[in-house]
Amino acid sequence: MSATLDATTQGARYQQLLDADSRTVPDVLRWQSPMEGGPLTVPVGRYTSPEFHRLEVEKVWKRVWQMACREEDIPQVGDHIPYEIAGIQVLVVRSAPDRIQAFRNICLHRGRQLKEFQGRAEELRCPFHGIAWNLDGSLKHVPCKWDFPQIPDEWPLPSVRVGTWGGFVFINLDDDCVPLEEFLGDLPGHFTDWPLEDRYKAVHVGKIMACNWKLAQEAFMESFHVVATHPQLLPGMGDTITQYDAFGHFARGITPNGSVSTHLRWSPTEQEMLDALVDRSLDVPSPMVVPEGGTARRTLADNRRAGLAPVIGAEMADALSDAEVNDSIVYVVFPNFHPWGAYNRIVYRFRPYGNRHDMSIMECMILNPFSGERPPAAPLRMLGVEDDWTDAPELGMLTRVFNQDVFNLPRIQEGLASGSLDEIVLARYQETKIRCMHAELERWLARPAGRQP
Ligand code: FES
Ligand SMILES: [Fe+2]
Repeated sequence: MSATLDATTQGARYQQLLDADSRTVPDVLRWQSPMEGGPLTVPVGRYTSPEFHRLEVEKVWKRVWQMACREEDIPQVGDHIPYEIAGIQVLVVRSAPDRIQAFRNICLHRGRQLKEFQGRAEELRCPFHGIAWNLDGSLKHVPCKWDFPQIPDEWPLPSVRVGTWGGFVFINLDDDCVPLEEFLGDLPGHFTDWPLEDRYKAVHVGKIMACNWKLAQEAFMESFHVVATHPQLLPGMGDTITQYDAFGHFARGITPNGSVSTHLRWSPTEQEMLDALVDRSLDVPSPMVVPEGGTARRTLADNRRAGLAPVIGAEMADALSDAEVNDSIVYVVFPNFHPWGAYNRIVYRFRPYGNRHDMSIMECMILNPFSGERPPAAPLRMLGVEDDWTDAPELGMLTRVFNQDVFNLPRIQEGLASGSLDEIVLARYQETKIRCMHAELERWLARPAGRQP
């Protein structure tokens, strides 16, 4: 296999792998949309400047649709969950069995945060002096009302726009925003075969990161770093075979698993390829054995199809292509939402920590399929800036991979903040997703007030 790669052959390599799939692959994996144009360099100030952060808050965070929670986080009437973006507090509430609303999470009296924690309540009552609103945001009760001649009878909590897709609840702070459906555009068409509303949140872990939110998410938007950051994966991961596509406000990378990296200078056996992807100690036998004449890719796929059969049904599981059960099909939707396609089950979200330009929150959810009654959603486990990902063992093998990823990030933030560089440079093909998000960011920053781009 040649080690020479360029943008014109790159997508073709992954497509050839699909040709060899043991099943028919869905059309969505056949689509190719290499990015035309877009930035090849990015000013360092986007990661280090408090002024740039403030611009981003005004032009992006206060106006863009952003994922706030899962619908199953608030299954019952009265369930509520706080969401915070750049210091702005929002409360998402299930106000009726089929209605989800969101409000500014602040008391109109003297500004106390109404609800600090996820929970269930019959009303939204402020803990300071007890002014209460109904779940639909209408005013319910003002203690000593006689003392507030300026409070009108109608005194609702300021509402925040809400939309849902794929079992996710999105909010928008801009009353003049376009509907969520218009914002998402073609994205739902990419998930037709993998409806995320039919999954439940089995794992939810967050961690505070000592870097800008874009730096954090960009560490998860290309497979180019695998060769240096996760070299143990190379025998089993086609990092350099990744197909990258840009679709305007969203983009994707598809990295094959059970496929050897072109970086490798030795030829692993099929068993060694499989072992590179399995979480095990080297002194114990492989839990998955490639049969005589078999391949790592097929063995991994058969194993995963067998695991899914009791959950989604044998017929449906058996029809899933090797690609759908093996590969990392990772979307990014502007500005910060990273749902994975098919059966890799992961979702990432990245955002500023508080209103900081140099700290962020990374979250990882695992959305599992289920049969029968929907299991309860896992609560968020939050890790501090000094905590190790292995403190969240529910993430399994990801903990050690994430530790490798996040080890770099404070060092990048410090490097950029040192003032030694004016700009960073981006790979034309392999950093497509990062370039796509910066192209979109530039569009949002340039748009006039009051209009969606
Ligand atoms: S601040 Fe909320 S009731 Fe006074
Ligand atoms: Fe990584």
